[in-house]
Amino acid sequence: MREPLSQLASYRALRVHALASKSRTLRELFARDRRRFDTFSLQYEDVLFDYSKNRVTEETIDKLVSLFSECEVESWRDQMVAGKPVNSTENRAAQHVALRDLNYLTCTCATQQSDVLQRMQAFVDEIRASDFTDVVNLGIGGSQMGPMLVCDALSDDVGAGLNVHFVANLDATEIHRVLQKLNPASTLFIVTSKSFTTQETLANAEVAKHWLSDSQRSGNNHLAKHFVAISANLEKALSFGVLPERVFPTWDEIGGRFSLWSAVGLSIALYLGMPAFRELLQGANAMDKHFLTAPPRENMPVLLALSGIWNQHFLQASAHAVLPYDVRLRYMPVYLQQLEMESNGKFVDRAGNDLEVPSSPVVFGDVGTNAQHSFFQLLHQGTQTISCDFIGVVKASHANKQQHDMLLANMFGQTQALMQGQTVAEVKAQGAAQSLAPHKTLPGNRVSNTILLKQLTPRTLGMLLAMYEHKVFVQGIILNINSFDQMGVEFGKKLASALLEKMQAVEPALDQDSSTNALIDFYRQNSSPVQNIASSK
Ligand code: F6P
Repeated sequence: MREPLSQLASYRALRVHALASKSRTLRELFARDRRRFDTFSLQYEDVLFDYSKNRVTEETIDKLVSLFSECEVESWRDQMVAGKPVNSTENRAAQHVALRDLNYLTCTCATQQSDVLQRMQAFVDEIRASDFTDVVNLGIGGSQMGPMLVCDALSDDVGAGLNVHFVANLDATEIHRVLQKLNPASTLFIVTSKSFTTQETLANAEVAKHWLSDSQRSGNNHLAKHFVAISANLEKALSFGVLPERVFPTWDEIGGRFSLWSAVGLSIALYLGMPAFRELLQGANAMDKHFLTAPPRENMPVLLALSGIWNQHFLQASAHAVLPYDVRLRYMPVYLQQLEMESNGKFVDRAGNDLEVPSSPVVFGDVGTNAQHSFFQLLHQGTQTISCDFIGVVKASHANKQQHDMLLANMFGQTQALMQGQTVAEVKAQGAAQSLAPHKTLPGNRVSNTILLKQLTPRTLGMLLAMYEHKVFVQGIILNINSFDQMGVEFGKKLASALLEKMQAVEPALDQDSSTNALIDFYRQNSSPVQNIASSK
């Protein structure tokens, strides 16, 4: 059993080092070393990773690499790839890497993936040659976010083909807004749920079922023709009414937030085509190979993870902002919220002991430049320490070079402003009145990574997403937590089911806490009578 993180020699050495280097500023570091970027940046294929705007020296990186070694991350990494049960609480392997490289034939999912890809290919060909015009993915969390991000990011390369829609929320507004624009006769639903028990997805699937049967246009076999399921729970998918040949598998060893590489990515394949889906997998595989073979100092996901640990544990950054400067990547913040916080938002270690150090930071973000006009003020002058990842793409999706130059100039300018700040003397030299000088001063010394892709393609996007998956894995191992379960989200779901019965009963005694009682009471008094699905449109 491993010692608590805070007791490890390398962790303690980092504490001492952080104290000793506390007064060192990024401005000084850049002024002292004109080649700082060369030392603290990496390029791999079309991905450039600049971590020079972190408050690190070569000594810091050495010490972080010692932590990486002491936590035996490489051994854990190799165990994960070999299909060992690194998901200890559920006694399962975590096999998303195997989906991208069939040489890792260590589990059922890897051996079946090749067949699944062939089935997906045949299905995509069939649907693209049919009268279907619209595909609606019904799924939530990992069964929605990855596929939605990829479809949205690469939508500029899609010609006139299928339209794709994503419905996740239990709020029926979402599905009704989508359905009202669609024709039942030409709509295909993909029910994407690993468990096939998720309340939101099943409720929306029922709405879709009624919508199709109400239309009378799709005949009696509407389920057979219009529904596909992606699930690890074949029995439940069949009892919902999906035909066996229309159920694509996913597996226990593939966590929801790591599942877009499986048939969960069927919406991607239908929308972008199977070659693009395969290219996405190849991109992720290229990043996997880099992660598996590059030494820690030259390893992008490892350095991304270590800079995060340094910022959060030793510079007290409690939040982390994800800032894509490209509208095509607008779903990166929400995608990474699930990937990072559902994986590493834990308060006990693998042995069930309380963590004495912070787990995942709060991840938030928005697309640049919009975010500059909402929360950037706090990034520049707020009192909290917040680390940032800026993500940009060199090649635009359009021909308006002037505007793309402006966009990237804003991104680079923001990383520079956060780093160098603006001193009182500089503010005064610009003519600011004495009384306003403190308000115009920016402390600077605020840390960020910059990730630049030469272009946004299925391959580079696959690389980017795999890079973050591995970052999360490395951090989870250093924290000594299980990044592959999500037991905390179950409790709220249970309470919601119990409360639903109370809310819908005629006059039950409300025996909850006073706040919950009053909220239910207010809701009961002001809500409309219960409607069934068919009449709720
Ligand atoms: O939020 C909990 C969670 O289990 C996620 O991990 C998962 O991605 C999501 O719900 C959806 O689960 P399923 O694919 O089983 O419907």
